[in-house]
Amino acid sequence: MSEPVKVGVLGCGLMGSGIAQVCAAAGFPTIVRDTGNEILEKGRTGIQRSLGKLVEKGKIDAAAGAGALDLLTFTTDLAALRNCDIIVEAVTEDLAIKNALWTELDGLCRPTTIFASNTSSLPIGAMAAATSRADRFVGLHFFNPVPLMPLVEVVRAVATSREVFDRAMTFARRLGKEPVAARDRSGFVVNLLLVPYLLDAVRALEHGVASIADLDRGMRLGCGYPMGPLTLLDFVGLDTVVRIADIMFEEYREARYAPPPLLRRMVGAGLQGRKSGRGFYDYATDPPRPIDLGL
Ligand code: 3HC
Repeated sequence: MSEPVKVGVLGCGLMGSGIAQVCAAAGFPTIVRDTGNEILEKGRTGIQRSLGKLVEKGKIDAAAGAGALDLLTFTTDLAALRNCDIIVEAVTEDLAIKNALWTELDGLCRPTTIFASNTSSLPIGAMAAATSRADRFVGLHFFNPVPLMPLVEVVRAVATSREVFDRAMTFARRLGKEPVAARDRSGFVVNLLLVPYLLDAVRALEHGVASIADLDRGMRLGCGYPMGPLTLLDFVGLDTVVRIADIMFEEYREARYAPPPLLRRMVGAGLQGRKSGRGFYDYATDPPRPIDLGL
């Protein structure tokens, strides 16, 4: 990629705003596109807060924080991404929604623009096939919170060219991340192992193995995990995990990927985790209190 690389980010939710932040912090002019001004404003405020924390902790200097904000543009206009060199998509895990965007962008962007999806579970090949540039399509899977987690899974689909895959690895390193190469299989490396673990924690709760607090305490204090599995589920979003697990179950047809009924019931009841204020814990209090799920 010749300088300066212009980055487009599709989606300004938890992942999209984090990806936009690390791209701008790495010095790339970055345009973030979402459908409404409210979500863009929420994302912008989150980025400002996160950059502020990083400055406060001495991870970046104040000028770099301000510089990153200056490199960010927020828009509702998809056509504003037409001159980007690379576009990273982080919209909801729905193939039809993603592909509608990819097909439109395929018509708008230069043939050289690289398309990258942050999907955690959908086939990269199925998105690449919706465009005329399957050789320039990769997966770039980031982890939440994007500004803090060092890993990016770089996914080479069957039609991705070696050159584009290598460029994507280089791009991830330029963002200050550690890339690992992954194959185009649902869940890639990390979610293949993480999702069954999270679902097992919910099954353990359903079966009365231990309380919410003790399941979390067990894994934190016994294994040194930074968060227990139920806290991590709240952090990632219960609705997101159900969607990922459904897609993984569809791919592998193995029971360990099937979302347990309790998780679905919680999502149905609006308990989505931190983003909705309540999941396994109630975030209205500090520290958050385990919810009474009637178990
Ligand atoms: N930006 C900048 N700083 C941030 C931040 C952000 N987005 N989020 C938290 N911080 C800062 C906090 O302000 C805090 O700063 P301080 O030390 O000055 O107080 C520091 O990071 C540590 O945060 P906390 O004290 O709140 O909590 P922790 O010490 O537990 O650290 C954590 C937070 C890094 C998120 C840690 O708990 C962790 O690593 N948790 C596991 C996260 C994880 O597993 N992520 C992967 C999820 S799976 C995924 O994303 C894949 C998808 O496909 C599902």
